[in-house]
Amino acid sequence: MKLIVILCTIVTARSALGIQLRRFPDDFIFGAATAAYQIEGGWNADDKGENVWDYITHNNPNYIVDQTNGDVAADSYHNYKRDVEMMRELGLDAYRFSFAWSRILPLGFNNYVSKSGIAFYDNYINEMIKYNITPMATLYHWDLPQKIQDLGGFANPLFSDWFEDYARVVFEHFGDRIKKWLTFNEPREICFEGYGSHTKAPAINITDVGTYICAKNLVIAHAKAYRAYNRDYKPVQNGECGITISVNWFGPLTNSTEDQFAAEMRRQAEWGIYAEPIFSKDGGFPKELEERVATKSLQQGYQWSRMPSFTEEERMFVRGTYDFFGVNHYTAYLVSANEYLTDQIEPSLLDDVGVGIHVPEEWPKSASSWLTQAPNSIYNSLVHLKNKYNDPIFYITENGWSTTPSDSLFDEDRVKYYRAALESVLNAIDAGVRIKGYMAWSLMDNFEWLLGYTERFGLYHVDFESPNRTRTPRKSAFVYKQIVKSRTIDP
Ligand code: NOJ
Repeated sequence: MKLIVILCTIVTARSALGIQLRRFPDDFIFGAATAAYQIEGGWNADDKGENVWDYITHNNPNYIVDQTNGDVAADSYHNYKRDVEMMRELGLDAYRFSFAWSRILPLGFNNYVSKSGIAFYDNYINEMIKYNITPMATLYHWDLPQKIQDLGGFANPLFSDWFEDYARVVFEHFGDRIKKWLTFNEPREICFEGYGSHTKAPAINITDVGTYICAKNLVIAHAKAYRAYNRDYKPVQNGECGITISVNWFGPLTNSTEDQFAAEMRRQAEWGIYAEPIFSKDGGFPKELEERVATKSLQQGYQWSRMPSFTEEERMFVRGTYDFFGVNHYTAYLVSANEYLTDQIEPSLLDDVGVGIHVPEEWPKSASSWLTQAPNSIYNSLVHLKNKYNDPIFYITENGWSTTPSDSLFDEDRVKYYRAALESVLNAIDAGVRIKGYMAWSLMDNFEWLLGYTERFGLYHVDFESPNRTRTPRKSAFVYKQIVKSRTIDP
């Protein structure tokens, strides 16, 4: 009671002083996100096929720091009703989840569609719809069927046809209820980490060439799925389709021309390479990056550029294939030209553009080595993208903060991070950015890839020791609930 009185007094005092609370627009969508392999478990339930994460964790357990895997994870395969109950507890408008390709098509190809796979997602989606929660679905969040990987995965130019086949099966079965689609989650992590730095499955270590071949095949696959949706499903299903790219902010360390250029090159290598072909006016890979890789390739003795080019037809085919831009945003780095273009023996994506990355000491640190709380970085990223790519519609499809397994349920740092991030979203809205929604990562703790269960991102804590993977809200869940309800950051 006392608390309510204090809150009312603050609100009244604010209005008396003419201070307006900053509100999110009424049609702004608040949600939370997860991904199939990280939460579902049921890795071999019914006829599900093996995927690259099943394969790598079973065959090379030491690849994961705590030797764990996603065999059971948060067991959402059996706990999906509890998941939807959590969405309701938080009052979410939307929920972003991903389909497991090998649960729908156990063999990877569309010659065999799993009835139980379809039934699982039918039940999950229907449960959300029953409670007015808008599903936002990702077709691919890193769990490639192993059979497709055996044929080269993203390095095989036929990949785009197989992806379109899979996408069509999913559109066909679920498009009556799903109106927001994302083709791929984080191309950088798929291509650079999967086929370059080998820090994600399938852990292919062909750094200097793999990343770029994957990038080309991936954006073509995206475009095929987008165009299939547009032509054959959208007229009846009326949904929209985009792609989610990880856009962390890379700003210059100083205002010098050199640092500014270094930051631009880094942005091109990190996400421009995936965004430019789809969102830019002309399409194709970023020009400066293309030139730099071509020059370096020749210097390194190749007779061709390590970065494949698009034919004119391919460039036009990929260009403009979006209804909105999905942004996963977590952090920022400052780029310096000083350590730029070091002479590395082994060429890699980062060597192609330099390695001068700085993180100021004063930015608060999370449990993840790569994640600090940088000031106003959502605003910086979105305003940059708005200007560069002709003002698209955006969704923040992920944003979140990690703690350690032993940290308390009173996750004050996560609360601070979310408040600051949402403030930055409001700043972007004020600057005219057309941002329509925000998905917190994550609804619950889950399998954090190479880091296993050693880093936790959930609004809900998950007890991975308990048989039914008990979920318990953290303080951040209560705070987020209040934000969603009041549509303001401050009560
Ligand atoms: C982005 C990825 O999409 C997600 O799978 C991952 O868990 C989070 N980043 C946190 O690292």
